[in-house]
Amino acid sequence: MGKWGELARTGFVATCVAIGAATAACAPAVAQGPIVARAEYAPKAHAPGPMDHVRPTKMGPALAAAGLDVRSLPPIEQLSPAQKQKVMRTFTESLGVPCVGCHAEEQFPADTRRKRIAKRMYNEMVRALVLRDGAPVYCDSCHDGTMYMLDRRDTAKVTRHMSEALVGQLARVDGRAHDCSTCHGEPPDYHMLTTWKQTTAPDIVPIDTPASAMVLSPPLPPSGPRIPADCGPHSEDCPLQRIMRSEVSIATASDDGPALAAVLERVARASPDAVWTWETISRAGATAAQRGDLGEAKKSCGACHALYRPTWRASHRTRAVP
Ligand code: HEC
Ligand code: HEC
Ligand code: HEC
Ligand code: HEC
Repeated sequence: MGKWGELARTGFVATCVAIGAATAACAPAVAQGPIVARAEYAPKAHAPGPMDHVRPTKMGPALAAAGLDVRSLPPIEQLSPAQKQKVMRTFTESLGVPCVGCHAEEQFPADTRRKRIAKRMYNEMVRALVLRDGAPVYCDSCHDGTMYMLDRRDTAKVTRHMSEALVGQLARVDGRAHDCSTCHGEPPDYHMLTTWKQTTAPDIVPIDTPASAMVLSPPLPPSGPRIPADCGPHSEDCPLQRIMRSEVSIATASDDGPALAAVLERVARASPDAVWTWETISRAGATAAQRGDLGEAKKSCGACHALYRPTWRASHRTRAVP
């Protein structure tokens, strides 16, 4: 399989989640025993971040000095030690942390939570995304010199930022539709960094793949209209998407059972076709949310998305929600 096929199959969180991590390359992040050590460096209290737009990377030249093309980076585990060393400098500069922001002191090969996240950000986000005009994206594009950019005090604001910047400005290099699920998976995990911290990051390709087979020139996505069609910067043209992105995801991310129950009740009434099981699925989610069983409630997300989202997007997208 072509390496972009490989990436498309395994490199995205969404795909890994969707296919149940069935492939070797996407292998379950089996924890390799206890974490050997954790990074010593303690960042300042998570100050509210700027939540700025995504910028074209400035790290192109630094990566070129390591013989790397920012548009076509091999998986991090495939870099030579000399290349890794140069890439590490781009990490410290992009995130504004010292080496021990991620590594255990004097134990660089030791597994740490931050290394797990950094590896996945590199393999599954940086390699997978570009700006919509094709400009390459790297750590600094989002981080811009700081580890934390989100302003977590206001989940509604975070969600708008996700919608406008992290979805609105970006595209997937494999040309598939880029949406919340590229990063959050399906059904969505709004706390995936916590999930990532608990599991070792999967390698993207088998370790014996020759380096010559690793470097890819991704076909850039066309800069024309999005597929599925644009809903406007605040999803104003697609009522259900707006409710899903704001109300449903906020209630889910904040484990707010009553709010989730209320909005899923509303979603239940939006079924465009009486023979669909849509209403039953959504109502079951609402009932579970009402009794505080968020795990059960979340099953409705994946169930409805798998069954009805493609048809909804194709035929009912602009439909008003009662
Ligand atoms: C943002 C987090 C981050 C920062 C900051 C960082 N590293 Fe790393 N480093 C990683 C990750 C992730 C890997 C593992 C790559 C892999 O899985 O192959 C790694 C690997 C390494 C390795 C090779 C050992 C190994 O696990 O493959 C060395 C040596 C290293 N880093 C040194 C440094 C030095 C020196 C600095 C400071 C200039 C630094 N790192 C800064 C995340 C970081
Ligand atoms: C498309 C945007 C984007 C890109 C590109 C990106 N990140 Fe991130 N990263 C985020 C967001 C959003 C967070 C959460 C920040 C917060 O909590 O304020 C995050 C968090 C992190 C954290 C976790 C900090 C913690 O302990 O909670 C690390 C480490 C990290 N990123 C490393 C990297 C590295 C290394 C790269 C480049 C290989 C990278 N990121 C590229 C968006 C991005
Ligand atoms: C480019 C990657 C990316 C995309 C695309 C993305 N997000 Fe996120 N999102 C993140 C990261 C990283 C975090 C931090 C996760 C964590 O803390 O574990 C996050 C966190 C969140 C949170 C939790 C905020 C909190 O503090 O509790 C919500 C809600 C959220 N995203 C909604 C969305 C929605 C809705 C979409 C689609 C419009 C979306 N995201 C698209 C990367 C992304
Ligand atoms: C009964 C059906 C149904 C249920 C239940 C449901 N959704 Fe949705 N959801 C949809 C449909 C249909 C869309 C597509 C809307 C569009 O693209 O216009 C969607 C879209 C989304 C989106 C936007 C994706 C994107 O990137 O554009 C998010 C986020 C989302 N849903 C989250 C959730 C979560 C979280 C749950 C569970 C707590 C959930 N949904 C439950 C039908 C449902």
